[in-house]
Amino acid sequence: MRRPLVAGNWKMHGSRAEAGRLVDELIAAGAGTAEVVICPPFVYLPDVGRRLHGNAIMLGAQDVCAEDIGAHTGEVSAAMLADVGCRFVIVGHSERRALYGEDDALVARKFAAVLRHGLVPILCVGETLQEREQGITNGVVTRQLEAVLGVAGIAAFAAAIVAYEPVWAIGTGRTATAGQAQEVHALIRGRIAEKDATIAASLRVLYGGSVKASNAAELFANPDVDGGLIGGASLKADEFARICAVAGK
Ligand code: PGA
Repeated sequence: MRRPLVAGNWKMHGSRAEAGRLVDELIAAGAGTAEVVICPPFVYLPDVGRRLHGNAIMLGAQDVCAEDIGAHTGEVSAAMLADVGCRFVIVGHSERRALYGEDDALVARKFAAVLRHGLVPILCVGETLQEREQGITNGVVTRQLEAVLGVAGIAAFAAAIVAYEPVWAIGTGRTATAGQAQEVHALIRGRIAEKDATIAASLRVLYGGSVKASNAAELFANPDVDGGLIGGASLKADEFARICAVAGK
């Protein structure tokens, strides 16, 4: 009932030529039955968007400004992202939180800005290794989720996606076990269900953190895992296409 979705987060990698090559290879590989989104760096969005024209693969951005317009040097608004063909926007990625000081309140405002412009936010939540070792994973993920619920309200989650990304699994080659992923995914869906069971049942919760073609099947087989947010492996067309194929099975 929930169509799986795989989003590729290219992060700050590649050149214009490499972005073009990667997207052309992805188109050639075919999207399969899962929904597929690719999130290139801002500056390559128009170019990649043009190449995707008429293809089922959709365009997403890695970040957004919480404000709609004005004197915000260096920022990019949700309206601008919609204008160049984006349908999805990642908000609250752990690298934004850790390296650029984004707190729960700012992430919630970004989430709301994305929705104001008819785009789909992919809200990232997840604990650090220290937090997991302290046994506070559930508390951290709940806090991150509640901050957004408090600002945007439960109804907003009918048009949103959540990605559980344990920080210790991102770019480390260390993946959560299927059991660890399922436990937190069920917690996320449960929190949403406390407020609205219908929205919870249709909410897609993606897993992210060192997903590869070789471990995707095990992770995606969990009942509450509805696809993946893929970093490193999204930069290799064949690997990413294989992950998308697994999600679509
Ligand atoms: P990774 O990144 O797949 O390279 O671990 C995931 C992410 O940061 O979204």
